Amino acid sequence: MHSLVVVTLFWLPLGLTQPTPPSGSKAGFHCVPRKTVPFQSENGRLFREEGVWNYSTMLLREDLGVLLLGARENIYALDINDISNMKSSVSWKVTPKQREDCRNKGKDSIECQNYIKVLHTVKDGRMYVCGTNAFQPGCDYMSYTDGQLKLENKLEDGKGKCPFDPFQRYSSIMIDEDLYSATSLNFLGSQPVVSRSSPSSIRTEFHSSWLNEPTFISMAQIPESKSSLVGDDDKVYLFFSESAVEYDSYSRLLVSRVARVCQGDLGGQRTLQKKWTSFLKARVDCPVPGSKLPYIIQDTYRWCEGEDWRTCVFYAVFTPQTDGWGMSAVCAYSVLDIGMVFSEGKYKTPVTVETSFVKWVMYNGDVPSPRPGACIDNKARSHGINRSLDLPDQTLQFIKDRPLMNQAVLPVGNRPLLTHRGAVFTRIVVHRTQDLNGTKHHIMFIGTENGSVMKAINYNEEMFIIEEVQLFRPAQPIKALSFSDTTGQLYAGSEYGAVQMPFSSCGRSVSCEDCVLARDPYCAWDKIQARCVAVSTAKADSHLVQSLVGDFSLCPATEPVKRVNSTLWLGGNLKLSCSPPSNLAEVQWQHDAQPLRPSTRHQILPDGLHILNTSASDAGHYRCVSMERSKTGAYTATVAEYRLEVGSGPEGQPRRPEAQAEELSLVMLQASVACLAIVLAVLLGWNLYKGHLPLPGPCGRARPSAGREENQGDQEEAARPTTQLVASQSGKLVTRLLEPGEANCTSNNNKCSGEVELAGSKEGETEVSVTLCSMQFIDDESES
Ligand SMILES: *[C@@H]1O[C@H](CO)[C@@H](O)[C@H](O)[C@H]1NC(C)=O
Ligand SMILES: *[C@@H]1O[C@H](CO)[C@@H](O)[C@H](O)[C@H]1NC(C)=O
Ligand SMILES: *[C@@H]1O[C@H](CO)[C@@H](O)[C@H](O)[C@H]1NC(C)=O
Ligand SMILES: *[C@@H]1O[C@H](CO)[C@@H](O)[C@H](O)[C@H]1NC(C)=O
Ligand SMILES: *[C@@H]1O[C@H](CO)[C@@H](O)[C@H](O)[C@H]1NC(C)=O
Ligand SMILES: *[C@@H]1O[C@H](CO)[C@@H](O)[C@H](O)[C@H]1NC(C)=O
Ligand SMILES: *[C@@H]1O[C@H](CO)[C@@H](O)[C@H](O)[C@H]1NC(C)=O
Repeated sequence: MHSLVVVTLFWLPLGLTQPTPPSGSKAGFHCVPRKTVPFQSENGRLFREEGVWNYSTMLLREDLGVLLLGARENIYALDINDISNMKSSVSWKVTPKQREDCRNKGKDSIECQNYIKVLHTVKDGRMYVCGTNAFQPGCDYMSYTDGQLKLENKLEDGKGKCPFDPFQRYSSIMIDEDLYSATSLNFLGSQPVVSRSSPSSIRTEFHSSWLNEPTFISMAQIPESKSSLVGDDDKVYLFFSESAVEYDSYSRLLVSRVARVCQGDLGGQRTLQKKWTSFLKARVDCPVPGSKLPYIIQDTYRWCEGEDWRTCVFYAVFTPQTDGWGMSAVCAYSVLDIGMVFSEGKYKTPVTVETSFVKWVMYNGDVPSPRPGACIDNKARSHGINRSLDLPDQTLQFIKDRPLMNQAVLPVGNRPLLTHRGAVFTRIVVHRTQDLNGTKHHIMFIGTENGSVMKAINYNEEMFIIEEVQLFRPAQPIKALSFSDTTGQLYAGSEYGAVQMPFSSCGRSVSCEDCVLARDPYCAWDKIQARCVAVSTAKADSHLVQSLVGDFSLCPATEPVKRVNSTLWLGGNLKLSCSPPSNLAEVQWQHDAQPLRPSTRHQILPDGLHILNTSASDAGHYRCVSMERSKTGAYTATVAEYRLEVGSGPEGQPRRPEAQAEELSLVMLQASVACLAIVLAVLLGWNLYKGHLPLPGPCGRARPSAGREENQGDQEEAARPTTQLVASQSGKLVTRLLEPGEANCTSNNNKCSGEVELAGSKEGETEVSVTLCSMQFIDDESES
């Protein structure tokens, strides 16, 4: 029975499920998630506090066992094993005076609050917190001791560390005691700055050649001094997008950038005093096939193999600059490739053409020494230059005028790791896991505008989205994403709340073939338990089946689906359910072993076959066959099988569905006769008797019994009343109370005339659904 429920969950309308390979790409270009997991409370654990919004700042403290979550005027310490368990919280509200000042400057009451935007760990284990504080950014220290969060109330000026405007994007990282931040320095948000706040504070020049209306995305440190042969310095990388200067374009064109500074930078002596002498930037390209305008970076994740910084890779999500096309992408950049552009590439230089128009072109003249923008290394030291303060003016003047590199940084493999049309990507994290053979795989978890997380992988240049899981309902853009390797949990924040989700929910696959075709390195089919289980990083066991190429032939033989026998009533409408577990499967219907073609009377729907105005010719044998391709072949399976026989009613009259329901002697089906008040009362009575309706209001929402969610596709079904009864093998009657969709209790009899839906499942159970004025029953008796 579960299979049926699970099977119905992962289905999208056919139009969306057909993979549409972009031009020039061969089959295997799967930009469609194999499974679509709609919202269910079991998808993850939710944390939110009533009346509090904007849960968009996260700091994972595995050492303290908590996830710190910054929201509007509140900071929470949540148990990392179960974030719905709040350990402590602290609020930081703006004072009435601050609010008034903010309002007087023309901001609204929503903006004039304190949005927590910065949460970092400092060297001594405390936390550093900054908030917008009603357009007067402020920072404070915070501790978590004995299970209590505490702000120290040492309010510091947060200007340049935290944005004024809660809607403006910003980025920061804390390295030891230095806060590196990229945000706006003024109330209007018009003065962008990349700075280090420490005893020796330092920042970017206020010049459009340095930062040109930027949107800051992310920052990361790379410890490049470690085992450096040239005595290099550690660096901080910054990703952002800004208005391009290098294209001839009449309209504003955005480009993605990576910039970096050296941690040892102290600024220049006369030129670039207290300004970065090492600020270099380059364009970052993510060449999505078929796109004309550059893609815009939205988030990055730094992944490194252990301590070796040379292995570090930045995974970045991109979206198009104009909405039209709707394709998001992931590109990855090696830190070595980025470093190469900065340390060996040519510079761009501005030249004035005509009188005022400035064009940026490749610089071909002499480059002073030490190389402009380079960190202080052994070679510079050998020339007596020990600090950036010792750099000669020529080098400083050069970099002040030309911080932009000529060459763009290209992604690993020169193309995206993933492209997807649909929900727009917002955030990314990457986790590495091992399959049973010990082979390592990088799994991308990508948050979307639509409140879902995609789990995707790139197998030797083949893109594959294992699943898309809806975490928020209503859909909420994912604003923060983080994970803990020790708990195996992913944490996602949105304006509405935060959700925790495990890396894998292998149990969603109910057959060996589905488990294998999912190509999920976290999962394997256990032949003994006959379940899809999470693989521990331990040993491969002979009873575990895993194949990341989707070799379903390794699976033990499965029992064929049980045929559902039913009587056909003439002149009615009938729906035969069939929902394969994969969006990538192609479905074919057969009637008496002949392929069934869609016609006005036979509609092939994503979740089944709809036969309208049934006639005697519709009797016979129906098979729903799904076919899913993998690297090793095509997996073909019969998902559902039906045998329909014309019923012989009294006087051989065509039968009405209600009559047939009676013949099935399923008491509940009587309800489908019509939306009669009497029947309603019976149903209500039944419900009250079963304790399912806490409030006997006619449109009262009732929850399904424990462990069950409402049938998917219920919105559609609710509008078109459908009877659903579930007959289990034991012959026991199972009814389920489904959540009402668009409840309309004023439907007349006509609208409520019965429609029978048959659903076959692996266990050979028959499901017949009844909806009565959008009230449906769920009462699972067979599952106790
Ligand atoms: C905070 O959340 C509310 C509710 O979702 C949203 O309308 C608002 O835009 C959010 N504010 C910010 C600054 O993101
Ligand atoms: C740079 O450091 C070296 C060794 O520490 C020292 O001998 C030299 O005088 C320093 N140069 C300057 C310009 O400070
Ligand atoms: C977003 O999610 C809703 C349901 O939560 C779905 O109906 C809609 O199609 C999704 N949009 C995209 C672009 O995936
Ligand atoms: C493990 O290795 C074997 C033999 O090389 C191969 O057949 C199998 O597909 C691999 N398993 C996975 C999960 O890649
Ligand atoms: C359906 O009928 C066939 C014979 O016509 C029988 O073999 C089969 O077991 C029946 N299926 C069920 C689920 O009763
Ligand atoms: C249903 O089919 C019968 C013949 O099979 C036809 O006479 C009748 O008009 C059809 N009804 C509708 C509503 O199409
Ligand atoms: C309910 O049904 C009535 C009659 O068919 C219709 O007028 C009304 O708009 C419907 N209400 C909703 C919410 O669908």
